[in-house]
Amino acid sequence: MQVSKSVAAMQHLAERWRRQGVRIGFVPTMGYLHAGHLSLMRRARREAGGGGKVVVSIYVNPTQFGPKEDFSRYPRDLKRDLKLCRAAGVDAVFAPPDGQMYHAGTVGRDSTCVVEEELSQRMEGAARPGHFRGVTTVVAKLFNIVRPDVAVFGAKDYQQETVVRRMVRDLYFPVKIVVAPTVREPDGLAMSSRNTRLKGELRAQAVALWRAILRAQAVVRQSTAPVPAKRLRAEVEKLIDREPVARLDYVEFFEPETLLPVTGVRRGTHMALAAWVGKTRLIDNARL
Ligand code: PAF
Repeated sequence: MQVSKSVAAMQHLAERWRRQGVRIGFVPTMGYLHAGHLSLMRRARREAGGGGKVVVSIYVNPTQFGPKEDFSRYPRDLKRDLKLCRAAGVDAVFAPPDGQMYHAGTVGRDSTCVVEEELSQRMEGAARPGHFRGVTTVVAKLFNIVRPDVAVFGAKDYQQETVVRRMVRDLYFPVKIVVAPTVREPDGLAMSSRNTRLKGELRAQAVALWRAILRAQAVVRQSTAPVPAKRLRAEVEKLIDREPVARLDYVEFFEPETLLPVTGVRRGTHMALAAWVGKTRLIDNARL
């Protein structure tokens, strides 16, 4: 497995593969890898096909964190990540320092960036101003460095995946975006690098997000008429508030393609929520 820390080295390697006609499957990550990431790597392998190569990037992108967010506390362990990538049969890891991804002194102040202006407005975009600008900018940079044929994203970040697909469509990036299902712990908690901070009671109460999804799914599936979003929102609030250390940030019911909120929720409507569990903010989503 090749490990590149510089943009030039990664570009060079990817360019060599491309010239040989090798397909590249790419998994962008912020590291602290878990079973969810491993499933994305397996998917990238499948998508790249026989003779294809899988590239994983590991970079905790500072520009997608707000000033009061958990950038400095975000879990990191490159040695462990490299071991997992090697065991997963990854061909190359791109793990750049900030000075490679952003030119000297420009972190968060780049004069060129990529902004998606429609789908990124609500939910995570409203709760975390500047977040998607950071995501689209870094993903565009990564696409230009790795120039993958296929990039695999996790369904857990539903809005991110939708925003990235829009960016790829609007800017004609020659890459196919594939979305792999959310991997869950046995009790339903969506896998996330941030889960590592949930100990004891926090971990037990974090499953409330999944319970809220199951509850909403059950209500919608039992009803023949659209269910008022207001009523479902109240049910979700009640479920989350029941947990002493949990606090709902938002829950939205929306059209899966446009992300536009609906007033009547039916089968096929998408639901996304964010909640604080202690000092850790978790997100989850599902089709109802
Ligand atoms: O989903 C993530 O881990 C990040 O947002 C991504 C896509 C790697 C960009 O930093």
